[in-house]
Amino acid sequence: MKKRLFSAVQPSGNLHLGNYLGAIKQWVTLQEDYEAIFCVVDLHAITVPQDPATLRKKTLEIVKMYLAAGINPEKCTLFVQSQVEEHTELAWVLNTISKNGDLTKMTQFKDKSGMDFERIEAELKAALVDIAYESSGVPGRTKDDFRILVMKSGKNIIDIFQTMKEDFNSVGTGLFDYPVLMAADILLYDTTVVPVGKDQMQHIELARTLARRFNERFGETFVVPEGKLSTEGALIMGLDDPSKKMSKSAESVYNSIALTDDAETVRKKIKKAVTDSGSEIVYSDEKPALQNLINIYTLLSGKTKEDVQTMYQDKGYGDFKNDLAEVVVNFLAPFQERLKNISDEEVLEILKAGADKAKRIAEQKMLAVRKNVGFLS
Ligand code: AMP
Ligand code: TRP
Repeated sequence: MKKRLFSAVQPSGNLHLGNYLGAIKQWVTLQEDYEAIFCVVDLHAITVPQDPATLRKKTLEIVKMYLAAGINPEKCTLFVQSQVEEHTELAWVLNTISKNGDLTKMTQFKDKSGMDFERIEAELKAALVDIAYESSGVPGRTKDDFRILVMKSGKNIIDIFQTMKEDFNSVGTGLFDYPVLMAADILLYDTTVVPVGKDQMQHIELARTLARRFNERFGETFVVPEGKLSTEGALIMGLDDPSKKMSKSAESVYNSIALTDDAETVRKKIKKAVTDSGSEIVYSDEKPALQNLINIYTLLSGKTKEDVQTMYQDKGYGDFKNDLAEVVVNFLAPFQERLKNISDEEVLEILKAGADKAKRIAEQKMLAVRKNVGFLS
């Protein structure tokens, strides 16, 4: 029996080589070893404003990308979150056993809202220390002196409170609730393994907490899932700056190679990629730019670092970059050919079949949830 695995991706089009090597490629491997369920989470995407037409387009686009990369709907279940209503239904039920305190702790929420109770508490303490410090050890002060002092530093305290209130009030409720929906995604399918990046681990922890809490309150219903750090996916750095990861939100077009870039664009971008001082092709921490390029080379060609170092022993950056460009082009060309040949209709059909398959499992789980919670059948 294979273990059941669930993973999900937000529908963002325009994926780059970092997305492929860091995420997509892993799914292709995982579908062999697990009973894999892969989901495009459009309900999560709308926690930040989305243009409807663009969302529709991106959802289709990302499914095509995964199919072109080797996700095989015969081997896994591939579907879109909003097409299986049980996700929202379970999210609601889980909301009722979640605490605000569970959610305000989440790093992603803190980052996106600017709300961090621990930081705010520290700021308040610091403001109080200011008052105590300024009022200490000065003899002969009157009550009015203290009043002025408290008004001065106290204003600081009110400012901190007001900023907090504004930050909190402006966060979308969906954004706040995002991890509960994610827990629903996972728990609906008796998932045992959830491969995610480090930033998502905390959300998995919440899913575990909610599964246990529900089971305690309503009887054994959910499998408690395990997070699996997806470390085998390489972190690909920006071609224009090897200290930051390749990112679609980077300012320069020379930061990343999109999976849809044509050969000429790829060659130009690799030619422009920054390199380190010296001219030797060696894999070393002292040469972070070259290291990144060698990583891309090895991951796409199947050659080892040692192979690459030997191949370019007597050559310089120019030769290496020319060959790297061809390695990338040789990977992208057949990928893009497959991508081009996948029609919207085909995707919709695959997703319909995927949703049906997912729904069969999700429906069963919701029957148990409904019964255990006490809803009429
Ligand atoms: P994002 O594009 O940031 O929403 O990320 C989508 C997926 O691609 C996540 O699983 C990321 O971990 C992965 N990813 C994004 N950028 C990179 C990168 N530069 N290198 C490796 N993986 C990445
Ligand atoms: N929050 C995840 C991300 O941004 C996407 C996601 C939604 C997910 N539901 C999930 C990942 C369930 C794993 C399991 O990457």
